Amino acid sequence: MDQFDLLLCNGCVFTDGCTRSLDIGIHNGKISALASGLPKKSEKILDISGKLVLPGLIDAHTHMGIPIMDTFSADDFTSGSIAAACGGITTIFDFTVQNPGQTLSDSLHMRHEKAQGKCHVDYGFHVNITDQPEHSIEEIPQLIADGFPSYKVFSTYKMMVNWQQFRTVLHAVGQANGLLLLHAEDNDLVQNATARNIEARDFTPLQHASSRPPDAEASAIHEACKIAFDLELPLYIVHLSSKQGLHAALEARRKGCKVYIETCPQYLLLTEEYYQRDHGHYFITTPPLRTEEDSQALWQALSDGEIDVVATDHCPFSERQKNSGNGLFHRTPNGLPGVETLFPLMYTYGVSQGRISLKQMVQVLAYNPARIFKIYPNKGEIHLGADADLVIWDSSQTSTICARQLHGRADWSPYEGMKISGKLCYTILRGQIIADNASFVGKNVQGKLLRRKESP
Ligand code: URP
Ligand code: ZN
Ligand code: ZN
Repeated sequence: MDQFDLLLCNGCVFTDGCTRSLDIGIHNGKISALASGLPKKSEKILDISGKLVLPGLIDAHTHMGIPIMDTFSADDFTSGSIAAACGGITTIFDFTVQNPGQTLSDSLHMRHEKAQGKCHVDYGFHVNITDQPEHSIEEIPQLIADGFPSYKVFSTYKMMVNWQQFRTVLHAVGQANGLLLLHAEDNDLVQNATARNIEARDFTPLQHASSRPPDAEASAIHEACKIAFDLELPLYIVHLSSKQGLHAALEARRKGCKVYIETCPQYLLLTEEYYQRDHGHYFITTPPLRTEEDSQALWQALSDGEIDVVATDHCPFSERQKNSGNGLFHRTPNGLPGVETLFPLMYTYGVSQGRISLKQMVQVLAYNPARIFKIYPNKGEIHLGADADLVIWDSSQTSTICARQLHGRADWSPYEGMKISGKLCYTILRGQIIADNASFVGKNVQGKLLRRKESP
């Protein structure tokens, strides 16, 4: 009788905060043994000598197939999750879309229908509250009891909440032991700066950045954190992009506000100079790309352990979609692809280049999002009894990011030509190999909806 369904031999396994040469035995989708010299009694055995083995990585912020301007982000749950798998991601968190007049529960239902039977990695939903917040909050306690403990509001865009509504929602979410996420930009500052550019008839891509200045981010974070501190409730800032915004969040934290900070590879690796390149409008995303000084501040914060999560805000558009606004900043759909390149970029430009340790990378890509979003201890760490979600990486190879080899539906990549220190060998989801040598090999759709309860 085989003891394991899959046995991984001699990997450099990241567990308990460091790498050790170990075998991993997998049975019924779980890690059932973790030791060296395990008996070779397994249906399938892979010798992964010298390869790095990490917990399956988590992208806590994606947007598959969402409506933006007159179009939809290019990846649906099928293509987006295949891209995720080929980038070492085994769990994504996407967002519901609340249509005007719709209940939160119906919005969850509708969104789940788009993912169910199509998503090749495990998935959870953050519930967007974008319509009639005072009314929507009545649903929150039941939704949290059903396993949906994270919510998001915007302080800008048409679907924004004002600060009074923000307070009401934060209170409702926090009272029910949930977590509120905020897209933080002060809408007045954004509207004024945008109007100035439009009046001056300057629609060039760089004006996307000046239309959404860093002080709009900082001001919204400052205001939101004041309310969170006052209510003694936690708050999670999505896609933090600027040094000013970072300082606002860190200052609030120093004063005792429990604020989680998420940033994204685009704010670490790209700058607003990209808007002046050929196809600069492709890089239009919100918040906009910033300066080198901003990126450096974010890297420093990562290295100081001040940033909790790195996620992608994956919201891809094809070249055709990006070109649909004739290159004008206010007519170009906002968003960048990123789910497949998250881990390779963070490994290369973070760990390999010495900006952060391997442990810090695993924290921001796996352990912290698992804890914050309540899927730990099943996910986020390699230990006995955890889901056998694993990524196996060959750091002795090198590769180059090339959009043609990526699996999403954006036919370009913001990171085209960037060198990568390593290559993906396998992505394993609950014991099933879903990517092999950076190609998708998943057979049936394996991804399941994560209903989330309290971590121990
Ligand atoms: O421009 C972006 N990032 N689009 C996705 C929606 C959002 O604000 O996160
Ligand atoms: Zn956002
Ligand atoms: Zn987003």
